[in-house]
Amino acid sequence: MPVKPSRVRFEHGHSGLGIGHREPRISWRFTGQETDWAQGGYELSIQKPGAEEARYRVVSGSSVLVPWPSAPLDSGEQAETGSLSASPTEWSEPSIVECGLLRVEDWSCRLVELAESQAIDKPKRPVWFRRSFNVAPDRQVQRARLYITSLGVYHAELNGQLVGDEQLAPGWTNYNLSIPYQTHDVTNSLRNGQNMLAAQVGEGWYAGRFGLFGGQRNIYGSQLGLICQLAITYQDGEVQTVESGDSWEASFGPILTSEMYDGEVYDAQQLIDVLQRSPNESWAPVRSSSLGGIVLKLFSPDAPPVQCTQEVRFREVLRCGPRKFILDFGQNLVGRLRVRVSGRPGHTITFQHVEVLENGECAIRPLRHTAAKDTLILSDGQVDWEPRFTFHGFRYVEVTNWPSGDDGVPGADDIIARVLHTDMERTGWFKCSDPLLNQLHSNIVRGMRGNFLSVPTDCPQRDERLGWTGDIAVFAPTGAYLYGVPSMLMDWLRTLTLEQLEDNGNVPPLISPNLFGPQGKNPTALWGDCVVTLPWDLYQATGDPRILEDQWESMSRWIDHGVDLDERGLWAKGRTWQLGDWLDPMAPPEEPGNGRADPFLVADACLIHSLDLMVAISAVLGKTNDQQRYEKWAARARTEFAREYISAAGRVASDSQTALALAIEYNLHPTPGQAERAAERLEEIIRNKARFKIATGFAGTPIIGHALTKVHRSQLFYRMLLHRKCPSWLYTVLMGATTIWERWDSMLPDGSVNPGEMTSFNHYALGAVGNWMHRVIGGLWMDEPGWKKILIRPIPGGGLSSASVKYPSPYGLIEAGWEALEGGDGAETFQLEVSIPPNSTARIVFPEQCHETVTVGSGVHQYQVPYIPPEWPPLPIYPPFAPHDDDTP
Ligand code: BGC
Repeated sequence: MPVKPSRVRFEHGHSGLGIGHREPRISWRFTGQETDWAQGGYELSIQKPGAEEARYRVVSGSSVLVPWPSAPLDSGEQAETGSLSASPTEWSEPSIVECGLLRVEDWSCRLVELAESQAIDKPKRPVWFRRSFNVAPDRQVQRARLYITSLGVYHAELNGQLVGDEQLAPGWTNYNLSIPYQTHDVTNSLRNGQNMLAAQVGEGWYAGRFGLFGGQRNIYGSQLGLICQLAITYQDGEVQTVESGDSWEASFGPILTSEMYDGEVYDAQQLIDVLQRSPNESWAPVRSSSLGGIVLKLFSPDAPPVQCTQEVRFREVLRCGPRKFILDFGQNLVGRLRVRVSGRPGHTITFQHVEVLENGECAIRPLRHTAAKDTLILSDGQVDWEPRFTFHGFRYVEVTNWPSGDDGVPGADDIIARVLHTDMERTGWFKCSDPLLNQLHSNIVRGMRGNFLSVPTDCPQRDERLGWTGDIAVFAPTGAYLYGVPSMLMDWLRTLTLEQLEDNGNVPPLISPNLFGPQGKNPTALWGDCVVTLPWDLYQATGDPRILEDQWESMSRWIDHGVDLDERGLWAKGRTWQLGDWLDPMAPPEEPGNGRADPFLVADACLIHSLDLMVAISAVLGKTNDQQRYEKWAARARTEFAREYISAAGRVASDSQTALALAIEYNLHPTPGQAERAAERLEEIIRNKARFKIATGFAGTPIIGHALTKVHRSQLFYRMLLHRKCPSWLYTVLMGATTIWERWDSMLPDGSVNPGEMTSFNHYALGAVGNWMHRVIGGLWMDEPGWKKILIRPIPGGGLSSASVKYPSPYGLIEAGWEALEGGDGAETFQLEVSIPPNSTARIVFPEQCHETVTVGSGVHQYQVPYIPPEWPPLPIYPPFAPHDDDTP
């Protein structure tokens, strides 16, 4: 198939409408396949309404984030672009890019709220706001845009038609610092004559109860409000605006409460007709005020919205009493139910959501201060209902008081689970010959999607769902392969940065949006280091140095002034509270930070890693002085680290998997001999002490596989990855997990829930092993930031006979798959097939035993090389004295 530019996008994947950049950079991928195809140049056409088409020819191989060639766009201004590669290809499909409202003055609307305030110590009832307006009966509308946001979370309707399919808009950010808005194309919902614009606002993160230990209400404000502006452009260029303001009216609808943690109470008997035009008593005038102190986020919204991306039918109905049953959806998901039911008016049904069952009952304890319960009160006739302003993390739903139909249980379409998350592009795929590893991989993906809901969260079910910096810091390399994360995480980093720099500060908050106030700014290694590692990971995924530039102040302030240092340039010991190797499986359930590795060893290793990244980042940004400064500091810190923690022979204090892996992975040994001793020691404790079970928490888990691969011990890690007893990844799979658990033993082998009060079944951090699976088993990674140069280096093992990976890079689809084919005499053939997209190249490194490397251009490449499979399985050094809790294959 001939090569063709496709999927023209702006900045980091923005679809184009309402963009916050006046000179959006443009990228395109390629479809089709030709051998060694490289772009020699490109031609862009820019067509602005009412203007001549302009064409720009550029001699350049670049097809990612190329500069905007035309005059900067203005608020609401539109352009249509196409791209054409100089090595002749067809034109891509055109794409529209249009700016949002970029200046404060562009916002002429007012904030509308209920005239009478709601009680501040109770959940707030969602409010409908509406206004009717006229569109000239005899004129044609060229386009209509709705710019809208709320103090709370909202959904809007125009003439009864839902505007967009976004959920929980405008999402969660620190609303005190800036509120994002959405831009919708509503041209097709408008009609000549009378129209009705309406929006319902719920409390969401803005005013609802949120946070740890029972949380608090009214975090950002105590009243719900709507801000919107509809711009209708007629064919002759005239613009009519409809703005939120005095002429609006408000009412309550059937939702009595809709809370993030506690769920929704919906009384279908109180349904209102939002479209009804003649005002009746249920609609009251609003209070309106100028936008005054409200800061609208004028540079956003780049991230994709939260949407429903999948509907899941229940698999099984477990009976537990009359009119009471538990539905099993077969997977731990994040979202809510859609229910269709009829019964007597006033009949009340409840829906209790939980992740797991314990002794056949809903395990509610891990939800802590979260009710996760929805209540539906029926009216006459059929009720179709989906809660609006809440979400739950669940696999099971206990339904109480379902009206008894024929057999008293719902039909497959009567109760459906709807999956919600930030709708990022699904990118990286992985498959191999071991079904359990495939299940583990799909658990990693499912866990990720549920925890990428507006912000990257720790868990979706209990009274947290917070943007913990440490969790995303360890998971980012895995996440950035699985989904197109950059725009969402960059938005999140911007908020984090504003919170870090507030009051001239240097320490990033532990969670962002920061609900902990100044106390949340305890200098904490790994969590704080997120401000260095995450921009770096996003730079790797995109090749965009602007990410590093934008985050430079945040990262350099953290490293230079935020980290609590001693005179040696390491962390000052004992002065700060460190989370260490959080959730080491040996840490007591109630003390997850009290693991085997010294928390300050972990902190210092993370600091040195961050310093190394600061050297690399300074180099990318051409900051030579900083580069030298960080180089010197890193060298001194290494010397001091060795003095503090490394023995003359090379052992590492704490003598744990995490401590040794950190030292190996971050090159902390002064000499290669010492590093080799550490590798031997790590091998010894894995083979003997741990008997191949994992013994790492947040700090060690993402890197232990890479550390072992670095010291040519990948088979040891295969053995750990394939272990089936607790603690191990496959233990969770064999216990029926469909997401990654927070603890290695969130569920104990006897099926009971871990007694620790912090026990979730949907935490992505320990899924950071996905990165090793993609890079080492699948063998796919970038050879330089941004994927223009690809590295294919599979290291087969673990008795696997095949693996394959797939990733749509910024250039097009990369595919790689290997198979180890049986030959005679223990010899095998290693077969590799790769497909490299146009305008990129790949370095292919065959497994160690083959000693071969080739560099290829685009196209499909197939290889067969003789190969001697690695010895399998690695065994404990000493046989156990007594029957051992082992699972030697
Ligand atoms: C969260 C974590 C987080 C940790 C740090 C927990 O409650 O769920 O994932 O990183 O606290 O204290």
